[in-house]
Amino acid sequence: MMDRSVVAATALLLAVLLAGGPQEAVRAFQIGAPNSNKTCTTLLPRHSDNVPRAGPSPFALSAAQGARGEPLNVTITSRQGFPYKGFILQARAADDLMPIGTFVVHDSQNTQTIACFGEDHNTVTHSNPSEKTSTTFEWTPPVDFNGQVIFNATVVQDYSTFWQGVVAKALIGDPALTGSTAGISTTQPPLTTQRTSTTNAPVTMKPAINYRALSPIYIGCGSSKACFGYPNDCDVDGNCNIMMTSLERGDKYIFELMSTDPRSLYVAIGLSTDQWMGDDLVMECVVINSEVKLFQSWNIRPNPRKGNTRLPTNGNLQLMNYSHVDNTIYCQFERDADTTVNDVRFNLPTSQYYVLLAHGDEVKEDGYGGVGYHFRALFSGQQGFLSDVTGFKAASKLLLRLHGAFMIAAWIGAASIGIVLARYFKQTWTGSQLCGKDQWFAWHRIFMVLVWSLTIAAFVIIFVDLKSWASSSKNHAILGVITTALAFFQPIGAIFRPSPDSRRRPIFNWLHWFVGNSAHILGIVAIFLAGQLPKAELPSWWIWIMVGYVAFHVIMHLMFSVAGCISERQSSKRINSFPLKEMSSSRTPLSSAERRQEAPHACFRKFLLALYIFGILVITIALIVIAVLAPIESNSTITNFQNWISTNRSG
Ligand SMILES: *[C@@H]1O[C@H](CO)[C@@H](O)[C@H](O)[C@H]1NC(C)=O
Ligand SMILES: *[C@@H]1O[C@H](CO)[C@@H](O)[C@H](O)[C@H]1NC(C)=O
Ligand SMILES: *[C@@H]1O[C@H](CO)[C@@H](O)[C@H](O)[C@H]1NC(C)=O
Ligand SMILES: *[C@@H]1O[C@H](CO)[C@@H](O)[C@H](O)[C@H]1NC(C)=O
Repeated sequence: MMDRSVVAATALLLAVLLAGGPQEAVRAFQIGAPNSNKTCTTLLPRHSDNVPRAGPSPFALSAAQGARGEPLNVTITSRQGFPYKGFILQARAADDLMPIGTFVVHDSQNTQTIACFGEDHNTVTHSNPSEKTSTTFEWTPPVDFNGQVIFNATVVQDYSTFWQGVVAKALIGDPALTGSTAGISTTQPPLTTQRTSTTNAPVTMKPAINYRALSPIYIGCGSSKACFGYPNDCDVDGNCNIMMTSLERGDKYIFELMSTDPRSLYVAIGLSTDQWMGDDLVMECVVINSEVKLFQSWNIRPNPRKGNTRLPTNGNLQLMNYSHVDNTIYCQFERDADTTVNDVRFNLPTSQYYVLLAHGDEVKEDGYGGVGYHFRALFSGQQGFLSDVTGFKAASKLLLRLHGAFMIAAWIGAASIGIVLARYFKQTWTGSQLCGKDQWFAWHRIFMVLVWSLTIAAFVIIFVDLKSWASSSKNHAILGVITTALAFFQPIGAIFRPSPDSRRRPIFNWLHWFVGNSAHILGIVAIFLAGQLPKAELPSWWIWIMVGYVAFHVIMHLMFSVAGCISERQSSKRINSFPLKEMSSSRTPLSSAERRQEAPHACFRKFLLALYIFGILVITIALIVIAVLAPIESNSTITNFQNWISTNRSG
C-alpha cells in the first residue's frame, strides 16, 4: 500500500516536473521500454523528442565469448560509477535489426524481458527507475547460431540524458567451422579471436611496475576517465610531469590537474575549439601561501594583446580537493557540464575540445590577474569529448622537428662548407672541371642550392605547422624570416651576375659576399635562439654546442686564411703576384690563365678542408639528432629506471 502510493506520488511529481512531457512517455520511462515495433527497432525511448547524447557513453556493455547454444552473461556497467535508471538491450546478428536468442533476468525486481515482434524474451529492459550501476543477464543464442552477435543497448541516465548504441560484440561457437560469414568481419580473423579467448595472452601483459602507487590521479586512466599528460603515454607509465584527467558525472564534469615540476606555481587546463592559443577557457590551480586555489580565466586572442584575464566562476566551478606536497601540485574540481563563459557556450557533453595543458611560475598580480609565463604548454593533437576515456594524445611535433632539422642542415652544414669553398678554394683543383665549371664553383653551387632548398622547405613547413605568426618566439621568427629572405634572393642575384670582366663585377662580388655572410650569421643566431624556445624543448647545453660550432668555424677560418697567406706569398715569389681573392682585389680580376694556376700548398688546404667538413658533419649530425629527439634532457628515463629498481628490490 505504502509502496504503491510512493511510486504513484513520484510518478505524478515527475510528470508535473517534466511539464509538457506526455504522461504516457513518463510512464514508459518508469516501467521500462514498451514493446512497440518502433522501440524494438530504434531502441530509443518513446520520449524521443530528446536526442541521444553525442559523446562516448559513460556506460559500457560487456559480454563473454560463448559456446554454441550455451548461455552467456551480458553486463551493463557504469564506467565512472554514477548510476543509470533505464535501458533496453537486444542481441542481434551483425547487419540485422532483428533481435535473436533469449534473455533470462537475474534481478527480477529491477529488470524484465519483453517480447519484440512477438518473440518472447528477446529484449530486456528495466522495470523501475531506481538507480542501477550494474545489471547482468544471461543470454542464450538460438540453437543453430554461429558467428558474431552484437549486443546493442540504449542506456538512460535520466529522462533527457541517454546514450544509444552502447554495444558489445561476442563470438558464438567456432565460426571457422561454418561456411557462414555472418558477422565475421575480415578485420577479426577467427584465429586471433580463438587464441585470445583460449590463452591468457601473457605476451601482451605489461611488466608489473606499480607506478600507480605513486599517485591516485593515474587510477582509472583509460577505463573510467580521460587522461592527457606529458611526456607521451605518461598516464600509462605513471611518470607525468604535467597531467589532466576528466570524467562526466551527471551534469558535472570532474577534472584533476597535476604538475610535478618543482618550479611550478600553477597548473592550468584550457579548452579550445582550435589548436592555437587565444579564446580558450582556462581553469587554473594556483599555489597561494601554501594553499591551492582554483580560478577561471580566459586566454585573450594574440591580437592585439596576448594574455590571460581572470573571470568570475559564477558558482560553475568548485574546488573539491587539492594538495601541494613534494613539489607536486594536485587539484580536483568539478565544473557544470553546460556553461557560458565570455559569451561562448561550453557544453561539454555535446562538444569536442582541444585540451591545452600548461604549468608555469608566473601568476600576475596586476589588475587582470590570470596566469603568466608557462614553461610548458601542451596541446592535444585532436579534439575530443572530455568524457571519452580513451583520453587525449599530444599534437605531433613532426613538422616542428623537420623545420629544425632542415635549418640546421642548411646553415650549420651546407652553408658553412659552401662558403669556405668559395672563399679559399678558387685556386685548388684547377686542373679539373665539373660540368664545365671550376670545381670550387660547381661545389659551391651544389651546397648553396642545398641551403636554398632546405631553407625554403623549412620556412614553408613552420608556417604550415603554426598557421600563424608565432608571437611567443618573436626574435627567432624575425631572424628566421630575414635569413630566409636573404637566402631566397641570393641565387637570383647570382644568376644575373655581371661577366668577370665587367666593371660592375666587384660590386656584385662584394654584395654576394655581404648578403651570403649576413644570412649565414643571422641563421646561426636564429638557431642559437631556438635553444630558448619552450616549444623546441632543447636541452640547456644546446647553447654550448652552438658555441663550440662557432669556435670551430672561426678557428678553421683563421687557419684557412693563414694557409692562404702562405701560399699567396709563395706564389707571388714564383710569378707576378695574383690576388687570391677576387673580391678583395683592387687590381684587375684574374685572367683565365691565372685562374687555371693551382696555388701552392694545395695539399695542406685539402687536408684542412677534410678536417673542416668532418667537424661540420659531426656537429650538424649531433644538432639534428638533439633537435629531432628532443626533449632528451627529460629525466623521465632516469625516474623510470629508479622506480624500476626500487620496485624490484621491494618485490
Ligand atoms: C544499435 O542499434 C541502433 C538502433 O537500432 C542502430 O542504429 C545501431 O546501428 C546499432 N549499433 C550496432 C553497432 O549495430
Ligand atoms: C552468469 O552470472 C550468474 C551470476 O553472477 C552466475 O550464477 C552464472 O553462472 C553466470 N552464467 C554464465 C553462463 O557464466
Ligand atoms: C510489428 O512487427 C511484426 C513482425 O514484423 C508484424 O507482424 C506486426 O504487424 C508489426 N506490428 C505493427 C503494429 O506494425
Ligand atoms: C581528498 O584527497 C584525500 C587524499 O587523496 C582523500 O583522503 C580525501 O577523501 C579527498 N577528499 C575528497 C572530498 O574527495
